[in-house]
Amino acid sequence: MRRGTVIFVVINLIIIGSLINACSTLISLLFENASRFAIPGAEIPAPNSDLNDNRTQLIPKIIHQTYINSSIPAKWKEGQQACVNLHDDYEYMLWTDEKSRAFIAKEYEWFLATFDSYPFPIERADAIRYFILYHYGGIYIDLDDGCNRRLDPLLSYPAWLRRTVPTGISNDAMGAVPQHPFFKFVIGKLADYNRNWVLPYISVMGSTGPLFLSVMWKQYMWEHNQPEEAVRVLMPAEYKGNPWSFFVISKGSSWHGKDAQTIFWMGKHWFFLTVSGFLIAGVVGGALWWLWSMWVMETGKTSHGRKRLSFWRRLSSKDRYELVDRMA
Ligand SMILES: *[C@@H]1O[C@H](CO)[C@@H](O)[C@H](O)[C@H]1NC(C)=O
Repeated sequence: MRRGTVIFVVINLIIIGSLINACSTLISLLFENASRFAIPGAEIPAPNSDLNDNRTQLIPKIIHQTYINSSIPAKWKEGQQACVNLHDDYEYMLWTDEKSRAFIAKEYEWFLATFDSYPFPIERADAIRYFILYHYGGIYIDLDDGCNRRLDPLLSYPAWLRRTVPTGISNDAMGAVPQHPFFKFVIGKLADYNRNWVLPYISVMGSTGPLFLSVMWKQYMWEHNQPEEAVRVLMPAEYKGNPWSFFVISKGSSWHGKDAQTIFWMGKHWFFLTVSGFLIAGVVGGALWWLWSMWVMETGKTSHGRKRLSFWRRLSSKDRYELVDRMA
């Protein structure tokens, strides 16, 4: 029986160890405040400042957006039009489902099977944005993020992502030069992360969405820590909510109906969901442990009827107990 306990403890330690190992990126995300790579607010000229014209332009002047087809719903029309109107010198590319698939089939055929295999359309909408940024460069903007000012200052950084609170980054607005190593890294990992995590929203988050991108971002930072390879981070104050912010978010946005709304909600709250997941796993693990110890106590009687010490006491006074046991 004691041997059984030891095996149980060892197996548990192995499971916990591999969970921690598997989640080390997630855990480290909790402590990553992105300040090293933040684009300082002070570095961004006011919307109508002349300083905007003095900056180097690295990212090509292209705005990318995605939708099912070219009939953009009325609720996003205004935000989309604002982006187009503010940037008459930018190329505007709308990636419909059909156009996206044709692009992958032509340029990244090795990815087509994975692209087609995604069970949720939103996963394709996520994946395509990494490929087009890698391929063409430019700035990707979600349709529910309207433009509040010209994006020119953001063209000065080779690649940037958007910070989310309290941790991680999102994939709703991002920019890069063509063939940036970060997006090369990301598109190379998509197939590996195409897993079914049972719950649809976890699958979407982890396979292509903000959680996936946050994990990629963290891994990339470990492997590429030279300043010239860095991915910069747009902080919340510059993202939305202020007169000098780049974007305004339309209210009541939904993608393809209720399911997608849930998925978007999950996307915005993935940190909370991840922590809850760990808590639930902890409670379930603790309950199993408790059941096991009850079972050990219940069945752990010696042949001459003496009740053994409880599981916990045996754990804590193992050496002494072994001695007693040997002498008996
Ligand atoms: C575009 O997709 C929407 C939503 O599925 C649909 O209602 C609409 O008819 C489509 N428009 C065209 C032009 O196919």
